[in-house]
Amino acid sequence: MNPKESKILAIIGQGYVGLPLAMAAVDAGWTVIGIDNFEAKVAQINSGKSPVEDISDNQLQTALSSGAYRSSTDFSSVATASVITICVPTPLDERREPDLSLLQSAAKAIAPFVSNETLVVSESTSFPGTLRDIIIPTIDSLKPIDSLKIYFASAPERVNPGDPVWNQKNTPRLVGALDAASQVKALAFYESICDVVVAVSSPELAEAAKLLENTFRLVNIAFINEFTQLCATSGINVNEVIDAASSKPYGFMPFRPGVGVGGHCIPVDPLYLTWWARQNGQRAEFVETADSINHAMPKYVAQRALELVDSSVTKPRVLILGVAYKPGVGDVRETPVSHLRNYLCAQGIEVAWHDPLVHIWEGSEPVELEWECDVAVLATNQTGMEIEGLIAKGVQILDCTNSLKKQPGVTPL
Ligand SMILES: NC(=O)c1ccc[n+]([C@@H]2O[C@H](COP(=O)([O-])OP(=O)(O)OC[C@H]3O[C@@H](n4cnc5c(N)ncnc54)[C@H](O)[C@@H]3O)[C@@H](O)[C@H]2O)c1
Repeated sequence: MNPKESKILAIIGQGYVGLPLAMAAVDAGWTVIGIDNFEAKVAQINSGKSPVEDISDNQLQTALSSGAYRSSTDFSSVATASVITICVPTPLDERREPDLSLLQSAAKAIAPFVSNETLVVSESTSFPGTLRDIIIPTIDSLKPIDSLKIYFASAPERVNPGDPVWNQKNTPRLVGALDAASQVKALAFYESICDVVVAVSSPELAEAAKLLENTFRLVNIAFINEFTQLCATSGINVNEVIDAASSKPYGFMPFRPGVGVGGHCIPVDPLYLTWWARQNGQRAEFVETADSINHAMPKYVAQRALELVDSSVTKPRVLILGVAYKPGVGDVRETPVSHLRNYLCAQGIEVAWHDPLVHIWEGSEPVELEWECDVAVLATNQTGMEIEGLIAKGVQILDCTNSLKKQPGVTPL
């Protein structure tokens, strides 16, 4: 068989996006090489220990022992692949601007080994033009033979780690390719893995749609965080307001307040949009305002929590419950709880934390729930945290998650 008709997939980056994609592709009959430049992670994966919550050790071990999957640090193995997907992080730099260095280094690392007729897809989130203006020129300038035909597409990943319903298979996938031939190849690839594939007219359209989706969440969360502060001043429970408004069958969608936004997507991707706007001589003012409202939330939460401390206490002790950016994952990237803790510590307050899915965080270890505190802040409601014990003990709890409804000692955000 022509190797380019083979079902060999190389995935660059074996994290929250790349590893679940690998398992979905194995299920769909692909042989997958999961490439990552982090040696310890590759060793962990090959030993059958999954680094992400959405993939169980059992599922990983089955894929490894079937021979359909292996992880590697060796980029030359992309030569055998008919499809290469890039799933590396696209973070912000210290100026809070797009940092495409990992994406560029991934493109550079695969370029010398890409063979004729390979489809290269970027799944990483970035601003419109990333595939056409950055990835393609990088690969074209370093590919082994000038005349190689390589197909290109952008298919931004939409996975929601920890989601029990939506996954790589049943979440519709956007595909925007460079040209008609690339589109045929890219649609065929994703149709083999996903239930629904949505063809869009260009890579830029797919890239922009991804930024729209995540910015939509950022601004709505910011709006509800601001609305929460307006309600709290008048003693109105914002979550009851949201429940009431949700009875409207059209034109309303509920978003819940919290400590802020975290993870690798919602706090980051909208800043790719604001940066892109600036490159085009414009300003995404609305998005910038939303970003600053969310950034101010940890301080607001800290102040609300301290209001619950008995006035006789001179040196309050605060216990933070849940530090991952959302329930069901141990991912602490960009977690707003970090700003909450920093703000409290800067006030000279003793702060400890507990999270069953996080074993070490910013150089500190969790405490048991028995840790004596004057107030607890439920920042992320992880399963397995026995908060009932704290309620029974009469601990004051500020609930930022709307999950401890109307229990004694519990104050909603
Ligand atoms: N995590 C999410 O919920 C999510 C959802 C949708 C889209 N995305 C997007 O997907 C992309 C990947 O995010 P993630 O959450 O999977 O990141 P991750 O950090 O979980 O995994 C990325 C992996 O890539 C590896 N890596 C980094 N640079 C590399 C390189 N040059 N070559 C090979 N491997 C490299 C890292 O070691 C890491 O294992 C980002 O653009 C992100 O915005 C993430």
